[in-house]
Amino acid sequence: MSRPDRSEVHKLVTHFPKKGKKSEDIMERIISEKEKDMDFSSGNIFGSMCTEPLEIAKEVYLRFIGSNLGNPGLYEGTQELEREVHEAVASLINAEAAKSLSVGGGTEGNIIALWRARELSGKNKVLLPKSAHFSFKKACSMLKMEPDHVSLTEKYTMDLEELAEKIDDETAAVVGIAGTTEHGAIDPIRKIAELTDDIYLHVDAAFGGFVIPFLKESGHDLPDFSFEIEGVDSLVLDPHKMGISPVPLGLLYSRHEDHIYIDSPYLTGQRQKSIRGTRASASIPAFWATLNYLGKEGYKKMISRCMENTYYLLDRMKEEGFEPTTEPYMNIVSFKYDEPKRMVNEMAERGWNISRTVNPPGLRFVIMPHVTTKKIDEIVKDLGDLK
Ligand SMILES: Cc1ncc(COP(=O)(O)O)c(C=O)c1O
Repeated sequence: MSRPDRSEVHKLVTHFPKKGKKSEDIMERIISEKEKDMDFSSGNIFGSMCTEPLEIAKEVYLRFIGSNLGNPGLYEGTQELEREVHEAVASLINAEAAKSLSVGGGTEGNIIALWRARELSGKNKVLLPKSAHFSFKKACSMLKMEPDHVSLTEKYTMDLEELAEKIDDETAAVVGIAGTTEHGAIDPIRKIAELTDDIYLHVDAAFGGFVIPFLKESGHDLPDFSFEIEGVDSLVLDPHKMGISPVPLGLLYSRHEDHIYIDSPYLTGQRQKSIRGTRASASIPAFWATLNYLGKEGYKKMISRCMENTYYLLDRMKEEGFEPTTEPYMNIVSFKYDEPKRMVNEMAERGWNISRTVNPPGLRFVIMPHVTTKKIDEIVKDLGDLK
């Protein structure tokens, strides 16, 4: 590791303000920097899985800004709201009998799930679809596990025949995705469970976990993906995506004891949970407020509107000559396109945020609650111009 030279050290020291500044001066700078950030309320963000939280959630967040469930005994109220959040979401995904843990998001949930699988099995091979989120690469690298990617069908779900061929005595875990990052595809979790038997099966429902139950209740014919399937060992879903909670909040449910617990003698709790020690916990009460404010009816309405807008975008893009990669499963839709990087950059110059797919190369849109039909008309026009 190289040390910084003296001039760099000097720069660091002089940049730490010697004296305090006036709050007006601080805020002036803060406001000017904030203006450079993209804002969901602009309606121009089509590439993020997050959205603007509700006003009530923001208010609640501020009240709990110091909450730290890494030291839970100090925060009885936050703990109580956490318990209620875990139970409410469990009832949505048939996870009432599972253990639950608040995590920072899908990434942390996926890391913990693979860690558990490795601890339980003593093995290190992970079978996962080519559509799996890159957080699994991180997880495997950190845990010294070996990812082995299974091909996708033409519907962008995991190929079951190939999965069956790859399962062997070295397999620690199989991962299925309910709502893939690129296309929103849902792997056939029930059929995967038939193949995994006593192998650990983790479901990454970071995005879809908050979409599929509501779409099913509204009459969409979507497959089971959660603990109603006996072979599912763990599942992560993110309130900070389609649960519209402020970041960061993921929930990990598991049938097993939480091996991540560690004795924490000098803190208020006997044992500390999760990878993180100190953990910002204000998003838990903020999400509690969100789910109580919206209720199932509110979420159903919000997600139905996202789906209507998804189909609106699909139709408008087809009119412009763009071909969808696959019919949308949920409010994520992508279009085949040979030069996605160029398009993403040129759209950014026009003030739009879109993202791209790799498999196959294409343009990807996540139709979150902040997206409107007016903005869809505008973005499609710009895409058509730049095509
Ligand atoms: C399917 C899936 N899993 C996991 C993640 C990681 O979530 P986070 O960035 O909140 O950790 C994402 C993020 O896009 C995702 O789409």
